[in-house]
Amino acid sequence: MAKIKFIGYGEAEVPVGASILEAAQKVGAPEGYACGGVCACSTCHVYVHKGSELLSEMEDEENDILDKAFDVRASSRLGCQSKIEKDGDLEVEITVESLQAFENEHPEARGKFVKRR
Ligand code: FES
Repeated sequence: MAKIKFIGYGEAEVPVGASILEAAQKVGAPEGYACGGVCACSTCHVYVHKGSELLSEMEDEENDILDKAFDVRASSRLGCQSKIEKDGDLEVEITVESLQAFENEHPEARGKFVKRR
C-alpha cells in the first residue's frame, strides 16, 4: 500500500496500481476529471511534491496534454495517468486549474475550493 496525502484535503492508503486521480476520489479531494480520466484534458493536473519516483513514467500522450495545461512545473503530472507503482509516501498538491474544473463539474462545490475575486 502507498500513503498519499493531498495537501489541504487529507490522505489515504491506496493499493499499488491506483492512479493519483483514483486516490483523490478515495480521499474526497477535489481533483477535476473533465474527460473522465482518458488523457484528453488537463483538468486532473497536480504537482507531486513527494514520491514522484513511486509513479509510472510519463508517456508521450501525457506530456502532450500537459503542454496545454496552465502553470506547468517540473513536478506536474496528470492525476489520471500517474499510477502508483511502489509502496511509499506521496504528497500531492491539486492545481488551481484542477480545483476550478472540479467546481465546474460539481456545481454544489462552487466557490468552495477556489477563491474568486
Ligand atoms: S481527467 Fe482528463 S486528462 Fe486526466
